[in-house]
Amino acid sequence: MNQGLSLYDNLGGEETIRRLVEAFYPRVQREPLLGPLFPEDITPVMEKQFMFLTQFFGGPSLYSDAVGHPMMRARHLPFPVTTERAEAWLACMRAALEEIGIEEPLREFVLERLSGPAFHFVNTP
Ligand code: HEM
Repeated sequence: MNQGLSLYDNLGGEETIRRLVEAFYPRVQREPLLGPLFPEDITPVMEKQFMFLTQFFGGPSLYSDAVGHPMMRARHLPFPVTTERAEAWLACMRAALEEIGIEEPLREFVLERLSGPAFHFVNTP
Protein backbone atom coordinates (compact mmCIF):
# COMPACT_ATOMS: atom_id res chain seq x y z
CA MET A 1 0.00 0.00 0.00
CA ASN A 2 1.28 3.45 -0.90
CA GLN A 3 0.37 5.79 1.95
CA GLY A 4 0.82 8.82 -0.31
CA LEU A 5 -1.99 7.70 -2.64
CA SER A 6 -5.74 7.66 -2.13
CA LEU A 7 -7.44 4.36 -1.45
CA TYR A 8 -8.97 4.74 -4.92
CA ASP A 9 -5.52 4.85 -6.56
CA ASN A 10 -4.16 2.10 -4.31
CA LEU A 11 -6.99 -0.13 -5.51
CA GLY A 12 -6.30 0.63 -9.16
CA GLY A 13 -8.91 3.28 -9.92
CA GLU A 14 -12.00 3.05 -12.11
CA GLU A 15 -11.43 -0.43 -13.50
CA THR A 16 -11.08 -2.00 -10.05
CA ILE A 17 -14.13 -0.21 -8.64
CA ARG A 18 -16.16 -1.52 -11.60
CA ARG A 19 -14.95 -5.07 -11.03
CA LEU A 20 -15.66 -4.77 -7.32
CA VAL A 21 -19.24 -3.63 -7.84
CA GLU A 22 -19.79 -6.36 -10.43
CA ALA A 23 -18.49 -9.02 -8.02
CA PHE A 24 -20.43 -7.58 -5.07
CA TYR A 25 -24.06 -7.31 -6.25
CA PRO A 26 -24.58 -10.88 -7.46
CA ARG A 27 -23.53 -11.94 -3.95
CA VAL A 28 -25.89 -9.42 -2.36
CA GLN A 29 -28.72 -10.75 -4.52
CA ARG A 30 -27.97 -14.35 -3.45
CA GLU A 31 -27.66 -13.46 0.25
CA PRO A 32 -31.04 -14.30 1.89
CA LEU A 33 -30.87 -11.37 4.35
CA LEU A 34 -30.08 -8.81 1.64
CA GLY A 35 -31.45 -9.98 -1.70
CA PRO A 36 -35.14 -9.29 -0.94
CA LEU A 37 -34.40 -5.62 -0.15
CA PHE A 38 -33.09 -4.91 -3.65
CA PRO A 39 -34.96 -4.40 -6.91
CA GLU A 40 -34.84 -7.13 -9.54
CA ASP A 41 -33.08 -4.79 -11.95
CA ILE A 42 -29.90 -4.18 -9.99
CA THR A 43 -28.16 -2.17 -12.75
CA PRO A 44 -29.12 1.33 -11.47
CA VAL A 45 -28.00 0.39 -7.94
CA MET A 46 -24.67 -0.86 -9.30
CA GLU A 47 -24.14 2.39 -11.18
CA LYS A 48 -24.84 4.48 -8.08
CA GLN A 49 -22.58 2.30 -5.96
CA PHE A 50 -19.83 2.63 -8.57
CA MET A 51 -20.15 6.42 -8.36
CA PHE A 52 -20.37 6.42 -4.57
CA LEU A 53 -17.41 4.12 -3.88
CA THR A 54 -15.28 6.04 -6.39
CA GLN A 55 -15.87 9.17 -4.36
CA PHE A 56 -15.76 7.48 -0.93
CA PHE A 57 -12.34 5.97 -1.69
CA GLY A 58 -10.95 9.36 -2.71
CA GLY A 59 -11.48 9.36 -6.48
CA PRO A 60 -13.54 11.86 -8.51
CA SER A 61 -16.78 13.10 -6.88
CA LEU A 62 -19.01 11.22 -9.34
CA TYR A 63 -21.85 10.55 -6.90
CA SER A 64 -22.23 14.11 -5.60
CA ASP A 65 -21.95 15.50 -9.13
CA ALA A 66 -24.72 13.21 -10.42
CA VAL A 67 -27.03 12.73 -7.42
CA GLY A 68 -26.23 15.47 -4.89
CA HIS A 69 -25.25 15.23 -1.23
CA PRO A 70 -24.75 11.53 -0.35
CA MET A 71 -26.80 11.58 2.92
CA MET A 72 -26.22 7.86 2.85
CA ARG A 73 -27.77 7.01 6.20
CA ALA A 74 -30.94 8.88 5.24
CA ARG A 75 -31.07 7.08 1.88
CA HIS A 76 -31.10 3.77 3.76
CA LEU A 77 -33.93 4.73 6.13
CA PRO A 78 -36.68 3.27 3.90
CA PHE A 79 -35.01 -0.14 4.32
CA PRO A 80 -34.84 -2.12 7.59
CA VAL A 81 -31.07 -2.30 8.14
CA THR A 82 -30.26 -4.59 11.08
CA THR A 83 -26.85 -5.44 12.57
CA GLU A 84 -27.14 -8.86 10.91
CA ARG A 85 -27.71 -7.19 7.53
CA ALA A 86 -24.71 -4.87 8.05
CA GLU A 87 -22.59 -7.95 8.79
CA ALA A 88 -23.97 -9.76 5.73
CA TRP A 89 -23.26 -6.69 3.55
CA LEU A 90 -19.65 -6.58 4.78
CA ALA A 91 -19.27 -10.35 4.26
CA CYS A 92 -20.40 -9.94 0.62
CA MET A 93 -17.90 -7.11 0.25
CA ARG A 94 -15.09 -9.24 1.72
CA ALA A 95 -15.87 -12.06 -0.70
CA ALA A 96 -16.03 -9.65 -3.64
CA LEU A 97 -12.65 -8.13 -2.71
CA GLU A 98 -11.19 -11.65 -2.52
CA GLU A 99 -12.75 -12.62 -5.85
CA ILE A 100 -11.19 -9.69 -7.69
CA GLY A 101 -7.79 -10.35 -6.09
CA ILE A 102 -7.40 -7.48 -3.62
CA GLU A 103 -4.72 -8.73 -1.22
CA GLU A 104 -4.01 -7.95 2.42
CA PRO A 105 -3.39 -5.44 3.91
CA LEU A 106 -5.41 -3.45 1.38
CA ARG A 107 -8.46 -5.73 1.71
CA GLU A 108 -8.69 -5.28 5.47
CA PHE A 109 -8.17 -1.54 5.09
CA VAL A 110 -11.10 -1.27 2.66
CA LEU A 111 -13.35 -3.35 4.93
CA GLU A 112 -12.36 -1.23 7.90
CA ARG A 113 -13.35 1.94 6.01
CA LEU A 114 -16.73 0.45 5.04
CA SER A 115 -17.62 -1.05 8.40
CA GLY A 116 -18.09 2.38 10.02
CA PRO A 117 -20.82 3.41 7.56
CA ALA A 118 -22.35 -0.09 7.48
CA PHE A 119 -23.02 -0.15 11.24
CA HIS A 120 -23.95 3.54 11.20
CA PHE A 121 -26.76 2.71 8.72
CA VAL A 122 -28.35 0.25 11.18
CA ASN A 123 -31.83 1.63 11.83
CA THR A 124 -33.79 -1.43 12.98
CA PRO A 125 -33.21 -3.58 16.11
C1 HEM B 1 -25.51 -2.06 6.19
C2 HEM B 1 -26.11 -2.83 5.30
C3 HEM B 1 -26.68 -2.26 4.03
C4 HEM B 1 -27.89 -2.59 3.50
C5 HEM B 1 -28.87 -3.61 4.04
C6 HEM B 1 -28.06 -1.77 2.31
C7 HEM B 1 -29.16 -1.80 1.48
C8 HEM B 1 -29.41 -0.92 0.46
C9 HEM B 1 -30.64 -0.85 -0.28
C10 HEM B 1 -31.84 -1.75 -0.05
C11 HEM B 1 -30.50 0.13 -1.19
C12 HEM B 1 -31.55 0.63 -2.18
C13 HEM B 1 -31.65 -0.12 -3.45
C14 HEM B 1 -32.69 0.56 -4.33
O1 HEM B 1 -32.37 1.57 -4.98
O2 HEM B 1 -33.83 0.09 -4.32
C15 HEM B 1 -29.17 0.68 -1.03
C16 HEM B 1 -28.67 1.70 -1.80
C17 HEM B 1 -27.39 2.14 -1.70
N1 HEM B 1 -26.44 1.75 -0.78
FE1 HEM B 1 -26.71 0.42 0.67
N2 HEM B 1 -26.96 -0.99 2.14
C18 HEM B 1 -26.09 -1.24 3.17
C19 HEM B 1 -24.85 -0.67 3.36
C20 HEM B 1 -24.27 0.23 2.51
C21 HEM B 1 -22.94 0.76 2.67
C22 HEM B 1 -21.98 0.39 3.82
C23 HEM B 1 -22.73 1.59 1.63
C24 HEM B 1 -21.53 2.40 1.30
C25 HEM B 1 -20.67 2.86 2.21
C26 HEM B 1 -23.94 1.61 0.83
C27 HEM B 1 -24.12 2.35 -0.32
C28 HEM B 1 -25.29 2.43 -1.03
C29 HEM B 1 -25.47 3.31 -2.17
C30 HEM B 1 -24.45 4.23 -2.78
C31 HEM B 1 -26.79 3.12 -2.59
C32 HEM B 1 -27.50 3.85 -3.74
C33 HEM B 1 -28.09 5.13 -3.16
C34 HEM B 1 -28.92 5.91 -4.15
O3 HEM B 1 -30.03 5.49 -4.46
O4 HEM B 1 -28.43 6.94 -4.62
N3 HEM B 1 -24.85 0.76 1.38
N4 HEM B 1 -28.54 0.02 -0.03
